[in-house]
Amino acid sequence: MESSLHPVTFDNFGQTASLLRQNKTLYRLQLYVNDCHSDSVSYQFIRPILFGLDAESAHGLSLAALRAKPIGAAKRTDPALQTEVAGLVFPSPVGLAPGYDKNAEIFAKAYGLGFGFVEIGTVTPRPQSGNPRPRLFRLVEDRAVINRMGFNNEGMEAAASRIEAVPRARRRGPLGINIGANKDSEDRIGDYEKAMARLAPLADYVTVNISSPNTPGLRALQDKGALDDLLLRVRAVAPDGPPLFLKVAPDLEPADIDDIAAVAIARGIDALIVSNTTISRPPLQSRYAGETGGLSGAPLKALAQQRLADFRKASGGQLPLIGVGGIASAEDAYARIRAGASLVQIYSALVYEGPFLAQRINTGLLSLLRRDGFANIAEAIGADVD
Ligand SMILES: Cc1cc2nc3c(=O)[nH]c(=O)nc-3n(C[C@H](O)[C@H](O)[C@H](O)COP(=O)(O)O)c2cc1C
Repeated sequence: MESSLHPVTFDNFGQTASLLRQNKTLYRLQLYVNDCHSDSVSYQFIRPILFGLDAESAHGLSLAALRAKPIGAAKRTDPALQTEVAGLVFPSPVGLAPGYDKNAEIFAKAYGLGFGFVEIGTVTPRPQSGNPRPRLFRLVEDRAVINRMGFNNEGMEAAASRIEAVPRARRRGPLGINIGANKDSEDRIGDYEKAMARLAPLADYVTVNISSPNTPGLRALQDKGALDDLLLRVRAVAPDGPPLFLKVAPDLEPADIDDIAAVAIARGIDALIVSNTTISRPPLQSRYAGETGGLSGAPLKALAQQRLADFRKASGGQLPLIGVGGIASAEDAYARIRAGASLVQIYSALVYEGPFLAQRINTGLLSLLRRDGFANIAEAIGADVD
């Protein structure tokens, strides 16, 4: 078998040194994720090493560390954290947002980090390489991320075979599959139909993602007529299939919000995910602030929370909502739940807080529920608006 390390020569010394550094980092990361520590303290030691790598390499290493992690038993979550949405039982309301595990490589391991559900993808029918690198940036001073990945993924067949290889009993909570269209597709809606046909039988829910800013023209599917057509056709592919969720962008005008809510209700969408990354740029400190792409993490928090409230109002509480964007603590998750979210998802904060953040949010949420006299999550949903 060919070694991944080539002989060290003067020409490739830099590359070899970097590979060695990555191997060492991977080893440390593996020890850390296998140890099931949920404390942020040990992550404070690993973070500077990861931050010494470019953001996409660090992401790749974290996936590699999780791939090597035994599945193990997920820690039992308190029954007070259990909630039901669209007929599915979620042992915790904290989920892993799509974009981290685009190709369904580690979803079965993520439950062991404290996630109550995992959403993989975005998966497109055909594999595609996405935009040229660099396309992922850490905005450390802002506790944020900018990405213009462009739906890089190995395609629906690769995702399907990985999912099929894991027995359903290994899922410690629902598995969502987030679907999208290929960049060069002539028939975007046709792509959603293809992905739905292949992946719906494997999913506990499917998310129709029309909100990525990195596939030109994709967000035009949020327009009323196009959205109606899309949802009608995707549902028709699997009328008795799993629940269908819709993920929206935060960069919407009030009229768009009303239209989307009305179409989603009319077409029987089971939950709305609010929101994807923003193309807006609130004030930022980092030198990467001017990079093109979608902004996520702390600077997205206020906008995502506002959009959640907007959709709650526009839907009159008829649509379950999933809050995403800038959630980095139990307090953030709780605020989103009190504003009307039945579930929450996280991604960017994992970069800054480490892989066990969901576990800490679960513990913190329990204390907050008890403090306010709620017996369970369901009682807290929308407490600030009802
Ligand atoms: C690197 C990266 C890749 C992402 N890829 C996807 C994707 O493929 N599909 C999707 O629906 N959302 C994707 N997202 C958006 C996240 O799922 C989430 O909606 C957004 O980052 C806001 O949450 P956060 O502030 O907790 O990160 C991606 C986000 C990041 C940072």
